[in-house]
Amino acid sequence: MTGGARLAGSVDVVGAKNSVLKLMAAALLAPGATTLGNLPAISDVTIMRQLLERLGCGVVETTEGAIDRVTITTPDSINPEAPYELVRKIRGSICVLGPLLARTGRAKVALPGGDAIGSRPLDMHFAGLERMGAEIRTEHGYVVAEAPDLRGASIWLDFPSVGATENIMTAAVLAKGTTVIDNAAREPEIVDLCRMLVAMGARIDGIGSSTLEITGVEELQPTNHDAVADRIVAGTWALAAVATQGDVTVRGANAAHLEIALDKVMQAGGEVEVLADGFRVVMDRRPKSFDVVTLPYPGLATDLQPQAIAALSIADGTAMITENLFEARFMFCDEIARMGADVRTDGHHAVVRGRERLSGAPVRATDIRAGVGLVIAGLVAEGVTEVAEIHHIDRGYVRFEEQLRALGADVQRVESVSFGG
Ligand code: UD1
Repeated sequence: MTGGARLAGSVDVVGAKNSVLKLMAAALLAPGATTLGNLPAISDVTIMRQLLERLGCGVVETTEGAIDRVTITTPDSINPEAPYELVRKIRGSICVLGPLLARTGRAKVALPGGDAIGSRPLDMHFAGLERMGAEIRTEHGYVVAEAPDLRGASIWLDFPSVGATENIMTAAVLAKGTTVIDNAAREPEIVDLCRMLVAMGARIDGIGSSTLEITGVEELQPTNHDAVADRIVAGTWALAAVATQGDVTVRGANAAHLEIALDKVMQAGGEVEVLADGFRVVMDRRPKSFDVVTLPYPGLATDLQPQAIAALSIADGTAMITENLFEARFMFCDEIARMGADVRTDGHHAVVRGRERLSGAPVRATDIRAGVGLVIAGLVAEGVTEVAEIHHIDRGYVRFEEQLRALGADVQRVESVSFGG
């Protein structure tokens, strides 16, 4: 891509990757046909589809207008084994653990392993399910869980983990008795999953709060559900508008899910207009620096941290970034430094001293959010930037380069770029 364009125009945001994967897994909880709408056409959804097929589900995708739908037909008897070749491709697939255990009393799910944003333990998932009576062991790279008789329990999470909250919740909906999850995560994607479970007949109190009370029911029914909008994709566009001094209207998004991120946009000097179906960001000057602290929702999402660093790298002033979730995310800083960004890291802190401009260079996406962060950097760099390994971006962004071009960016997808070494 060649930097220099000001992004201007309108983009549509569809359902959130981090919700849709869990909603698809939740379809395992009820035999019959569940239909999910507002689906993003991204590679993670394709892999989740393959995983559900391996577990015995029938999956049919349809497109109605621009809205992708998927109908998942769950059989009475599910195969409870999720194989490594699929689980390793998307860590999010660990979310089948709760539903499998609830439906079959047994689950054998490959351990996903680490990824480029660091070590990601599953201890809280396991401890919670154990409190409910599951016996869990790891064997040949698989987690094997057995719970012929899941019972409600009181569970206190050390940290409001999104994945642990989801796995415990999806097991609890069919357990005997009441489960209370204290210090539960309350991301909009958790609320979305709760809403779908309630529509299936689950009994959940405290939705959207950090204490969830779930009373198990005998069985759940399939449902139709539209996924919540992707706040991370929406926030990515907002930060791209800030960096490029653009004027971008994001439709299909919920500004209330981005309160702190949009406040950062205003600190940078941008104007934010909240619309009925999204928001507009207008930026007509070089951004001013702002500090970033990532925290569980409603704090600023760690998944927006690289995009924020990209905008800060050309901002006026110095910014302090504190990453409280995934320290290894700062690997991204080594890449953006190749483009001339002045970023120093120490443990879970980074200091970004804004430069007038970056300089285009060949760089490598190390994960999905680092990938879009580098693209934003490329948009404001002088000359040509080549971002390699964009398959990471395809995991969560629908036709990203086409959307960028529609906003005026000079960007192309090239088949393969080799930098050697
Ligand atoms: C989800 C999102 C990811 C996002 C993250 C935090 C999906 C598919 N991914 O990941 O994009 O960045 O939430 O918003 O939805 N932890 C433990 N033990 C556990 C579980 C987690 O120590 O058993 C730690 C993690 O290492 C991390 C923190 O808790 O430091 C939060 O992780 P968690 O909320 O579980 O993130 P994920 O569900 O993996």
